[in-house]
Amino acid sequence: MSGFELGGLNKNSTIAAQRRRGEGKQNRFDTPEFREANRITLDVTYMLEAPGAGSIAMEKIESLIPEVLKAREMLRRGEGDIYDRGVLMTGWQNLPVDLTKEHLENIQSVAQALSTEVDAFVSLGIGGSYLGIDATFRALTHTYFNQLTRAERGGSPEIYFLGQNMDPDYFRDTLDMLRGKRVGINVISKSGTTTETAIAFRIMRKMMEESFGAHADQLILVTTDKEKGALRTLADEKGYRTFEVPDDVGGRFSVLSDVGLVGLAMAHIDITEFVAGFHAMREISSENDFWKNPALVHAAMRHAAWCAGKKIEVVASNSTGLYWVARWMEQLFPESEGHEGHGMWVSPSLYSEKLHANGQMVQQGERNIMETFLALREHDNRVSIPRTDNNLDGLDFLVKREMDMNHVNQMVVEGPAYAHYQGGVPNMTIEIPQRNAFNLGQLYYMMEESVSVSGYLLGHNPFVQPGVEAYKRAMFALVGKPGFEQEAQQMESQLKTMKRIRV
Ligand code: PA5
Repeated sequence: MSGFELGGLNKNSTIAAQRRRGEGKQNRFDTPEFREANRITLDVTYMLEAPGAGSIAMEKIESLIPEVLKAREMLRRGEGDIYDRGVLMTGWQNLPVDLTKEHLENIQSVAQALSTEVDAFVSLGIGGSYLGIDATFRALTHTYFNQLTRAERGGSPEIYFLGQNMDPDYFRDTLDMLRGKRVGINVISKSGTTTETAIAFRIMRKMMEESFGAHADQLILVTTDKEKGALRTLADEKGYRTFEVPDDVGGRFSVLSDVGLVGLAMAHIDITEFVAGFHAMREISSENDFWKNPALVHAAMRHAAWCAGKKIEVVASNSTGLYWVARWMEQLFPESEGHEGHGMWVSPSLYSEKLHANGQMVQQGERNIMETFLALREHDNRVSIPRTDNNLDGLDFLVKREMDMNHVNQMVVEGPAYAHYQGGVPNMTIEIPQRNAFNLGQLYYMMEESVSVSGYLLGHNPFVQPGVEAYKRAMFALVGKPGFEQEAQQMESQLKTMKRIRV
């Protein structure tokens, strides 16, 4: 049997874009044409007056406008409950203007040099020190990136992630992929003490030192606080090359800092274009006319939905790449909003896949759901649908009407948006014109601004995550970490009073 052929297909445009980036050819993101063609928009038509309970009236939105505008002003002026341990946590707002050309060039040159030296690059981190890099990488590159040839990857090494879970099988499987390869890593932890990242780093460091001897120190990058923490101490001791997590930028707001930029540069993603996207949305977000400001409209709509009893936000995309961005949102919103009994659960979904799973629940289950679509308008590639001899599946009409898979995939947003609205699920659509770094930058800034405003509307600090500490204390007590003896004792006596039910 001969091999499978891709008859009649053009070259994969995702690979072509990656090759161009690898050659240092940039999108001309500074032209008016590019900006016009790449402007993220927000369609809220289906948010208002959905049938049934929990409907949102336009009057509710209008009544929120003064509060939303005030929140935005307080955010800009650094007022209100937006500090973490005495530090004003609004540094993310300034990153798009504060990042210098020299700084970006330095990251690019380190990444370029390391790229050519290694076959595989592993990014170690969890939460905000992981999700944004993973999301952006997957959103902009080929689905099977590591299985492509190096040339198809535009010269990038293979890219892996560790430290985001404690699953030994996942860890071991990843190590298998690294066997015999030249490996570089970037260990990312703002605090420098996060257990999952620290354990992954211990193992990787030991294996790298055994494999590469003293040269391992040249292959290890560290991204952490500029002065304090265990990682900073070790990096200074060993002379690792380091990058900084700014004090005033929280983990989940840090994708535009060195946290995200180093890993993205390793995958040849254009970080200057990424910055430009953030910058563009920062400007749009300074608009005082509420109805011209998508971040503020987004915040008001979500808040009104929450007030109307919506407790789950399905964030659904018709793009496999953008599904990972929905996962980034799954952290940004719940970790910032889930305080004091507030907040919506964010459920990332890839459509159509999920329409054949929890789509039933969205249409007809408990009416506590709202939905946000991340609609990719122009995919990298077009896939046409062939005619058949007998039209047994009844789909020849698509061919007659010259509709390809791309056209059907647009309906994967428009169909559910209409049907779910009719079923009492308010929904909005964030339209993303194309998969590129500029658009992702815009989207991230818009979401960061929206969730910050949401903190004011909910009346609590969105830049801290005290709830995350509880699981850490329990885990440390269980593994017997020195200093957690009291917690361990308390846990033990409490567990003794509980009747174990195991079936
Ligand atoms: O948003 C946050 O602050 C968290 O999700 C952190 O990013 C996460 O806990 C990892 O922390 P660190 O970078 O200190 O290891």
